[in-house]
Amino acid sequence: MHDFTYDDQGRLCCAEVPLERIAREIGTPVYCYSLPTLRRHIQAFEEPLAGIDHQTCFAMKANSSMAILTLMARHGLGADVVSGGELFRAMKAGIPASRVVYSGVGKTTSEIDMAIRAGIMMFNIESEQELGVINERAGALRKKAPVSIRVNPDVDPQTHPYISTGMKQNKFGIDIENSVRQYLRARDMEHIEIVGIDCHIGSQLTDITPFIDAVDRLKVLIADLRGLGIGFRYLDLGGGLGITYSSEQPPHPREYCAAIVDAVRGLDLKLIFEPGRVIVGNTAVLLTEVLYRKETGKKTFIVVDAGMNDLIRPALYQAWHEIMPVMRKDGPLEKADVVGPICESSDFLAKDRELPVLSRGELIAVMSAGAYGFTMASNYNSRPKPPEVLVDGSDYSVVVKRQSYEDLISGEAVPEGLM
Ligand code: LLP
Repeated sequence: MHDFTYDDQGRLCCAEVPLERIAREIGTPVYCYSLPTLRRHIQAFEEPLAGIDHQTCFAMKANSSMAILTLMARHGLGADVVSGGELFRAMKAGIPASRVVYSGVGKTTSEIDMAIRAGIMMFNIESEQELGVINERAGALRKKAPVSIRVNPDVDPQTHPYISTGMKQNKFGIDIENSVRQYLRARDMEHIEIVGIDCHIGSQLTDITPFIDAVDRLKVLIADLRGLGIGFRYLDLGGGLGITYSSEQPPHPREYCAAIVDAVRGLDLKLIFEPGRVIVGNTAVLLTEVLYRKETGKKTFIVVDAGMNDLIRPALYQAWHEIMPVMRKDGPLEKADVVGPICESSDFLAKDRELPVLSRGELIAVMSAGAYGFTMASNYNSRPKPPEVLVDGSDYSVVVKRQSYEDLISGEAVPEGLM
């Protein structure tokens, strides 16, 4: 649940801070996070796991701002990383490498070296060839690399095809049929230590069944592996638990954790979780100002100052984000498209949406923007990335500054011959 409500003057607030104040002081577009909600969501995930041998590794791809990672570190969370850059951020934020799992199909040699040197908890192996390369690199560094195999269990997570990962047609993981062979290979590798088994089947799952189906398949595999004398410590179940954007009713983390704990009972393995969206998704809004109204006879467009470069989810996945006016409006509704300034027809934040009639200068909040919002922002159309602010009680701090025009070109060079 989120923490954005109207006060008695009809102002939409994040914790106790009216969003209108943030817009006035910091400008728009701006991502606004509620620190109390972040804390509550971490607790909501951790409380049901109290007493269970586990490590939660926050999926940094959902949000990797240093302030948020520092909060995760303070609460004892580790990180699920998918790049050297994420590993760098995690460690800078005080997350010990021993709490880092490294997933992703395209780990480069230098990223592998960095992670081996840092001493991460484990690599989640995504292909046969990657296993060989990690063995080689660990040998070159005179170390043993801890690995688990990311098994593709071929279950349908019933989510958007772009964010489904655990089916045969996806690029992720190693086929469940091939996994035993890879474990046997890994066992014979001099510089590999088998420490676990892993799977992640997709994101924004709103039903527990696919998770449990995946666990059931892994259980059969774990028994087969044990039969071959291959044992390990960790069972990594990835992330993927969904949130409410509109009317979805995903299981509460309490139900999710209870169902998993129940399904793995007796396996005697340390559970690793990689939640992203469920922790941060509903902790933030993207605050944006209406620039223009445009009526074409066919459609009404509300042109705002945030675009697909700031929040790409609607353009990329036709994702639905609720839109709330920052001053409560009780008048008539109209159907409109909320669009950004980018020169693409896919640049929309909402399509055919029933909204109060909005005029130039009014502010709106795009809800549930805390996961895969800022992390997917880009400089497309040479637009500086927006700032992020963290609200606590009646105050807030800027945790990521708005980029300047100078930031846009820093790092670029023009060869002398062109001048
Ligand atoms: N672990 C692995 C290996 C993953 O690939 C992912 C997400 C997660 C954990 C975290 O999943 P979560 O708990 O956040 O669902 N950009 C898309 C989502 C892409 C998810 C990719 N992998 C979106 O905006 O919906």
